[in-house]
Amino acid sequence: MPLSDCRLIDLPKISDARGNLTFVEGNNHIPFEVKRVYYLYDVPGGADRGEHAHKDLHQFVISMSGSFDLLLDDGFDKKRFQLNRPYYGVYVCPMMWRYLDNFSSGSVCMVLASGPYDETDYIRDRDEFLKAVGAA
Ligand code: TYD
Repeated sequence: MPLSDCRLIDLPKISDARGNLTFVEGNNHIPFEVKRVYYLYDVPGGADRGEHAHKDLHQFVISMSGSFDLLLDDGFDKKRFQLNRPYYGVYVCPMMWRYLDNFSSGSVCMVLASGPYDETDYIRDRDEFLKAVGAA
């Protein structure tokens, strides 16, 4: 899938005097059914996460609190997203190298995923990824 398919998605935001509420519906706001949720927290300053691609997994990345950057790379082009609000997120399609950095202190990164954890779906070797997308 092309890098242009990976995009910022605005989520509904219901605001009233009691605060804000945002929700995400699989196959509606995001183009896949959610089968797993995981989150990164207590990330120490200067730490990087990610640095891999997934063969088939679709993901949606949200900053629930604080901020961080998500860098996506299809082997040819790169896109950097700064995530700092809980009412939008980035859809990450399969076969996209991802890299997370610039975590602010106390930030929480929540990821909605289209399938259960499966190590065989990961490509952790950059050269293997570049070969797979024809960019070696
Ligand atoms: P990994 O996906 O490599 O983390 P990141 O890309 O954020 O740096 O996962 C780190 C470890 O956690 C790895 O040993 C696999 C394990 N893990 C699970 O067991 N289940 C999960 O849902 C996820 C995302 C990771």
